[in-house]
Amino acid sequence: MKKTLFLKPTVENISSAAKIINNNGLVAFPTETVYGLGANALSSKAVRKIFVAKGRPCDNPLIVHCASKKEVYKLAKDIPLYAKLLMNKFWPGPLTLVLKKKAIVPKEVTGGLDTVAVRMPANKIALALIKAAGVPIAAPSANLSGKPSPTNVKHVFDDLNGRIDAIIDGGKTKIGVESTVLDLTTNPPTLLRPGKISIEELESVIGLIALHTSVKGKVKSPGMKYKHYSPKAQIIIAKNQLEIKKIVAKFKNKKIAIFRLNKHQNTIAKNLFAYLREFDKKHIDIIICEPLDKISKKGIGLAVLDRLKRAAGKL
Ligand code: TXA
Ligand code: MG
Repeated sequence: MKKTLFLKPTVENISSAAKIINNNGLVAFPTETVYGLGANALSSKAVRKIFVAKGRPCDNPLIVHCASKKEVYKLAKDIPLYAKLLMNKFWPGPLTLVLKKKAIVPKEVTGGLDTVAVRMPANKIALALIKAAGVPIAAPSANLSGKPSPTNVKHVFDDLNGRIDAIIDGGKTKIGVESTVLDLTTNPPTLLRPGKISIEELESVIGLIALHTSVKGKVKSPGMKYKHYSPKAQIIIAKNQLEIKKIVAKFKNKKIAIFRLNKHQNTIAKNLFAYLREFDKKHIDIIICEPLDKISKKGIGLAVLDRLKRAAGKL
């Protein structure tokens, strides 16, 4: 087992973490959405280690994180006007754009696809790390594959201590669900994963976008076909309050928790993954989630619904 350094986000420590990246090591760092597990995106050797540390299937591509918009032009080609408009409006921020890749991006990053996903995170520590490393950083969420994404440093530690070189502590992440992923290689662009930047916001800039079938219900895009966000407990989404009572009665020998949904969607998003991990710590067998009709399909609500349904194995 390797010794994982636990770093406070000082200038010195960020520079040490950047050296680790430059030596093909792995560093977990905070973003505004969830923690990422970073490696030099231009090094096949470094990127391969991400898949090993997470236990992630090799055909599930990674997001490349940049510290400026201009870096995107080194990684991607045939960049449409749409992309420029979106970068100007939403970057730095929780929006990932899928573009045609250039040869400089190793196939390990893109799972063999001819496209690359890029984003510029809105987090000072993440941006400082990318700048100090001087290379773009490939980073999936810093959890073991299949587990809920990490929204604080303790979650990263629980999953990856001893498997990676360093973790930078940036406290609790602001948003709590992963970035919106938009594929700009299709016409119209396709929403692959809902996030904080909503369909309505995207459409206000570029007009109509299509919903990927995985967002609508079926599974197709690379990352969406794998089991996600799953706590050990079984999650049952109740259709109404009466059903909650019935399920409690049916499973009276099991350890049951009821997942009460906050009325503010941003608050649900921020705490969702932490709650799922808490239930595991308490060895809950069955999580009964309140009916989802309180959650709007607009704004970040769509992302919350997506993650909850996936956690319940319903997508
Ligand atoms: O907020 C986030 O996006 C976080 C932070 C760390 O930036 N990252 C994250 O990465 O959630 P990950 O690997 O857990 O999710 C990346 C998603 C996956 O669903 C993957 O399939 C999709 O993006 N993706 C990456 N590259 C793609 C590509 N070239 N084409 C289609 N989908 C792609
Ligand atoms: Mg992930």
